[in-house]
Amino acid sequence: MRIIVCDNYDEMSRLAAEFVKSQIIMKPNCVLGLATGSTPVGMYKTLAEIKLDFSGVTSFNLDDYYPIERANPQGYFYFMKEHFYSKVNIKGENTFIPNSEAKDANAECEKYEKTITEKGGIDLQILGIGQNGHIAFNEPGDELTADTHVVDLAENTIDANSRFFDNRSQVPTQALTMGVATIMKARKIVILASGAGKAAAVKSLLKNKVNTQVPATMLCMHPDVTLICDKEVMGK
Ligand code: F6R
Repeated sequence: MRIIVCDNYDEMSRLAAEFVKSQIIMKPNCVLGLATGSTPVGMYKTLAEIKLDFSGVTSFNLDDYYPIERANPQGYFYFMKEHFYSKVNIKGENTFIPNSEAKDANAECEKYEKTITEKGGIDLQILGIGQNGHIAFNEPGDELTADTHVVDLAENTIDANSRFFDNRSQVPTQALTMGVATIMKARKIVILASGAGKAAAVKSLLKNKVNTQVPATMLCMHPDVTLICDKEVMGK
């Protein structure tokens, strides 16, 4: 794993955007895997500012709550529209997010996984990391072998994400998420981490030893992972 420690959040965001830019220059019709949450907001802002050509790009998001209306500002469809789709020239038909309004959640997950394969697989996957070490909504567990699936959110993830909702009871208790198997199929992975709250999870990741109780450690088995973090994560 390559490790890049940046001075601050803005530098981390700029560098993450550079990785995306290089990917698009190398392959204008590439497939990006994208994340939501607070961490990648600065990266999306930079991507919009540098005016990259996204007209050939396809994107797949990692996850969304389930169920949640796509018009709900706390949902990830809304997030992506606000921070990315409305700011760049990516084509609507080339953007994918697990459908949080689907009637049959399992069928939606199966279709999502199949669509990723049909589009040629993910060239560059951007990840955040949860305080408990989750990637996408793959929570600590005994086994992390699934592809896209329905998941029950861990209590501490509901706690962490309640900051985006009026109160904790509004946070959906389930999500549709790419599995660790889906993520591991990406050709290249960039994982972003910012702030002291992520220090413990990143410390486990840096031990370079798989531990299913810290899902991000599965990335140790991937041949092309770059961690881009700020100094605070490293306790500096
Ligand atoms: C979001 C996602 C999550 C977040 C993680 C960190 O699509 O998959 O795994 O990356 O919860 O969230 P933030 O960035 O809000 O700390």
